[in-house]
Amino acid sequence: MLNKSPSDSPRCAQRPAHDTVGPGAVSITLVVNGIARALSVAPAMTLAEALREQLALTGTKVACDRGACSACTVWLDGAPVCACMVLAIDVGDRKVTTIEGLALDGQLHPVQSAFIEHDAIQCGFCTPGLIMSCAALLAHTPDPSESQVRAALGGHLCRCGTYPHVIAAVLDASRRGRSRP
Ligand code: FES
Ligand code: FES
Repeated sequence: MLNKSPSDSPRCAQRPAHDTVGPGAVSITLVVNGIARALSVAPAMTLAEALREQLALTGTKVACDRGACSACTVWLDGAPVCACMVLAIDVGDRKVTTIEGLALDGQLHPVQSAFIEHDAIQCGFCTPGLIMSCAALLAHTPDPSESQVRAALGGHLCRCGTYPHVIAAVLDASRRGRSRP
């Protein structure tokens, strides 16, 4: 589950070694969507909780809260990870990108636009995580095959069954030719 490339489905990030902390709150700085944010977090607080509860970035969804569904996918230094499986204190100086940070200069990322155009959203709960993984795929594989898209969706659970629309959206977005980061 550790040290997967960005081409893979989101994974748990490597936990760096650090001194013992807690049980009280710990002061940390997270660089989220390009902005340094000073936080005081419980040692057991996950990155997903810190994003949602302390930074009000609720685009990152929490469904299973145990690394089984990928709804909480964000990027750490451009690689998709499950934010519910990363402690906030373990993020360190890695750059966090959430769904709120994906649009550039007010323009939706091509994957976001393609999701809308291909009706790849039903209830929408899994959608931010899916988009983060699909955008990461296009960042390093601008012209993926359908099987590569399917591989990038591995680990993402969508109860509404949007997968065919998601695959069509990603292939369409790849044709538009923009990728990040
Ligand atoms: S909420 Fe994180 S993997 Fe399901
Ligand atoms: S759109 Fe509802 S769970 Fe995926």
